[in-house]
Amino acid sequence: MPLSTLLDPIEIGLLRLKNRIVLPPMATGLATAGGEVTDELIKHYVCRAKALGLLIIEHSYVERRGKLSSQQLGIFHDALIPGLIQLTEGVHAVGTPIAIQINHAGRVATSEISGAQPVAPSPISHSREHEIPRALSKKEIEGLVEAFGRTARRAVESGFDAVEIHGAHGFLLNQFLSPLSNKRGDEYGGRLEDRMRFPLQVVNRVKREVGNLSLLYRLGADDMKPGGVSLDESKFVAQRLVEKGVDAIDVSGGMIGSRPEMLQGTQGYFVPLAEEIKSVVDVPVIGVGGIRTAEFANDVIVRGRADLVAVGRAFLADAEWASKAVRDVEGSIE
Ligand SMILES: Cc1cc2nc3c(=O)[nH]c(=O)nc-3n(C[C@H](O)[C@H](O)[C@H](O)COP(=O)(O)O)c2cc1C
Repeated sequence: MPLSTLLDPIEIGLLRLKNRIVLPPMATGLATAGGEVTDELIKHYVCRAKALGLLIIEHSYVERRGKLSSQQLGIFHDALIPGLIQLTEGVHAVGTPIAIQINHAGRVATSEISGAQPVAPSPISHSREHEIPRALSKKEIEGLVEAFGRTARRAVESGFDAVEIHGAHGFLLNQFLSPLSNKRGDEYGGRLEDRMRFPLQVVNRVKREVGNLSLLYRLGADDMKPGGVSLDESKFVAQRLVEKGVDAIDVSGGMIGSRPEMLQGTQGYFVPLAEEIKSVVDVPVIGVGGIRTAEFANDVIVRGRADLVAVGRAFLADAEWASKAVRDVEGSIE
């Protein structure tokens, strides 16, 4: 079989992408205080949409308690749909599919921003600077699964082509998966099967709502902390996610966050995690982390290390990154 390049099309579920370049979700702080889309936010995405395979917009909160920052984008209420429609229409006019990342910040939310005590699997704070959260009751967990479901329905009504569930970077789903933040004694804590129960219930519920749209999961594949989620556990989780209908896994780091200081300077710093996840699933896997050059991104694909490549900060710095990468790789093939 001929080797794939960065410029080859690929399918995520039923969605056909023109190439393997992904803009990963990155919070812009350009929404209103109420979480609504602004003209500035639409402009930010539309001017980066050209020549891209898939554009994934920033983490958007599924309920008020899960809001992280003051001008974060929201998708917690139907009143937000008209603004989101303007955004999807703007990106579609450029010919690029658009996904939305949906999130609940859990224990890293603050009462100052969200107006309520943060909630989490267990009453353990993220750090000394964070508040001690309140443990969710089983009934509340069921309510949150529904909140994710309603959110997915809003994403469909807003015209998104795909939904990405945020299961990384120490937010609520990651908090359930990690033994560092989940000390529950009921069926939502303890063994891996129980720690992954809530994330899998969310996937199930969201899948029901999105139907034929593509479903991605951003997996924090390694907490990189003693006693945290290990890569071996994540490989098991990734397989269960695919069984539940996830169409692509977007592999990032866990509790340690998306940009660990000690890994900066290395292009493709989370690609080794993506390679490991790719070895156990048969859906496309996205690799990310410090990628700056088209040559490196193409090499990741040619060598089969990941199926798609996400380029974040380099794309923020240069809105033409994808167009230039397409030209560079075309030039190197001829
Ligand atoms: C300003 C900024 C905001 C980010 N916001 C999010 C986010 O909303 N959701 C998410 O999963 N990752 C977020 N990330 C992480 C990026 O998606 C990406 O994984 C990370 O920056 C590493 O890729 P890069 O080195 O190409 O930037 C953010 C990163 C930056 C720089």
